[in-house]
Amino acid sequence: MAIRLGDTAPDFRAETTEGQVSFHDWLGESWGILFSHPADFTPVCTTELGTVSKLRDEFAARGVKVIAVSVDPIGSHNEWIADINETQNTEMNYPIIADPDRIVADAYDMIHPNADDTLTVRSVFVIDPAKKVRLTLTYPAATGRNFDEILRVVDSLQLTTKFQVATPAIWRDGDDCIISNTVADDELAAKFPKGYETIKPYLRTTPQPNR
Ligand code: BEZ
Repeated sequence: MAIRLGDTAPDFRAETTEGQVSFHDWLGESWGILFSHPADFTPVCTTELGTVSKLRDEFAARGVKVIAVSVDPIGSHNEWIADINETQNTEMNYPIIADPDRIVADAYDMIHPNADDTLTVRSVFVIDPAKKVRLTLTYPAATGRNFDEILRVVDSLQLTTKFQVATPAIWRDGDDCIISNTVADDELAAKFPKGYETIKPYLRTTPQPNR
């Protein structure tokens, strides 16, 4: 069964390159990103895991813990880390789950048999501190993901969870936001003291409330 937005992220226990993890306990009060890759010792995956490692400060600034998973065993992950570090100019700084029995892959529906019946696709799950799934993404094996976009979505999720705004297409942190349609016109001045613009009755914008 596919995981849908708003579902509770399935909990699991797993062996990782940083020891045993009980997923919900490991997340604690943080936001989390669980992402799968098809296989160790493959080129696109090597660049992806290195990229995420190099973005460590960006994830930390947003209070996000990151964890990777594939169906490869722990020995393979541990050997591969040396290659990631060497070729991607990094020191891996987050755990990779070993999931040879597909406990995590099945719980999160990461194997799409019509694409490949043994390997996980490139899934991404963003999970909030209440353990609710807030974003799902699925990329094919031949396409490496844009982790800047995932950071951008985290920025939007954290903002729109706190304020009655939404973010427009290609929004970036600091840009103007869209005022939620749950805000009545006579509440605008009080709720958005930085100002607002009514472009259409359903399209009202405001400077980003927390910047
Ligand atoms: C890769 O990471 O390059 C890759 C992995 C599995 C299938 C295709 C490409």
